[in-house]
Amino acid sequence: MNKADFSYEKIVKGEGFQTHTVKWEALRDYCKRLFMSQSMPEEDAFTVADALVDADLSGVPSHGTTRTQIYLKRLEAGVVNPVFKPVIEKENPASVLVNANNGNGMVAGKYAMELACKKARDNGSCFVFVNHSNHIGMAGYYPKIAASKGMIGFTTTSANPGIAPWGSRQPFLGTSPIAIAAPTRGDPVLLDMAPSQVAMGKVVLAAKLGTAIPEGWALDADGKPTTDPNEGKKGSVVPIGGPKGSGLSFFSQILGGILSGAQYGPHVNTLYYDFKNPQEMGHVFAAIDISGLMDLNVFQDRMETIIREIKALPRIEGVMEIFLPGEIEMRLRKQRMREGIQITDVVYQELKDLGEKYGVQFSLESCGE
Ligand SMILES: NC(=O)c1ccc[n+]([C@@H]2O[C@H](COP(=O)([O-])OP(=O)(O)OC[C@H]3O[C@@H](n4cnc5c(N)ncnc54)[C@H](O)[C@@H]3O)[C@@H](O)[C@H]2O)c1
Repeated sequence: MNKADFSYEKIVKGEGFQTHTVKWEALRDYCKRLFMSQSMPEEDAFTVADALVDADLSGVPSHGTTRTQIYLKRLEAGVVNPVFKPVIEKENPASVLVNANNGNGMVAGKYAMELACKKARDNGSCFVFVNHSNHIGMAGYYPKIAASKGMIGFTTTSANPGIAPWGSRQPFLGTSPIAIAAPTRGDPVLLDMAPSQVAMGKVVLAAKLGTAIPEGWALDADGKPTTDPNEGKKGSVVPIGGPKGSGLSFFSQILGGILSGAQYGPHVNTLYYDFKNPQEMGHVFAAIDISGLMDLNVFQDRMETIIREIKALPRIEGVMEIFLPGEIEMRLRKQRMREGIQITDVVYQELKDLGEKYGVQFSLESCGE
């Protein structure tokens, strides 16, 4: 099936939905103020809002401002600490273990990736493992930090169970994203993917918007294929490449969960349904300093060569252009920074209602069709 036919692509573009076009800075400022209303310091509230809006800008609305409501609800319930107070539990030249003390996962993620980059500069590379943490959203946000410093960045995380280990019909492994970025002289190359046909977040968003999901995305609780996102939410998403996708997720649970000392798969408390317990999620953020191995200019020359070679390859019928990992998202990001972000009316109204609920002045004017 052509990806352009997926209903998710229509959600990204807002086709078939009532949408509002909003300026990205205004959306970020409004979300920041919402998080500040729940006692988050301004700098941290900015980071969370920035990560959410980056997802909306990049055409990843499943992990964008649609999540503002659930993150606020968890802060309000007291199961996430509004103030991030990390504790470094172990420190070696090229690996660090950080206890996030149940702070917001995006704030922890930015802190950990910046720490990985700082230590990679001194030691060539560094892996920062994080425990006692929460949902990190769009995983690609973090490796981009490393790429902006001339490094290769890598992130994965443990996650709620959404994938059945190959051969089982029970969701057990997390729908853990894997994101890796490399710098170029322009935008970084960024692969950011769930080990499943799609992120469970896309199934959750389809359910919120009342749209069906394509065949091949999800299985219901009995392990049978479904196009009903509500049934998919109760079941699992289909791993990419069968045992290979479930194998990738297994290693995300090992790195993000077991080695970090955090929880994994079924032992991670759910983002959406458990308002009594912290999630106890774990992650890893890694950076490789390119200049420790090769002059950054030489690396960038070599990147330009491989990109040129790939772009010039013969295309299959119907394909107008060969894209690099992350290229579609980066292009959309630039366009939306200029022209505004289309958000569906459902999410727009939800954000408006959150302002009323938390006493924050709603400041999102539609700026176009
Ligand atoms: N925090 C969590 O627990 C969690 C869990 C799962 C997923 N996620 C996030 O969900 C998001 C969506 O994940 P997904 O797997 O559904 O992503 P996806 O299927 O939309 O894209 C995966 C990757 O494929 C690349 N790609 C897509 N079409 C391409 C093309 N035509 N040519 C070249 N490259 C192309 C994209 O650039 C991207 O890097 C990600 O941002 C991920 O981090 C987060």
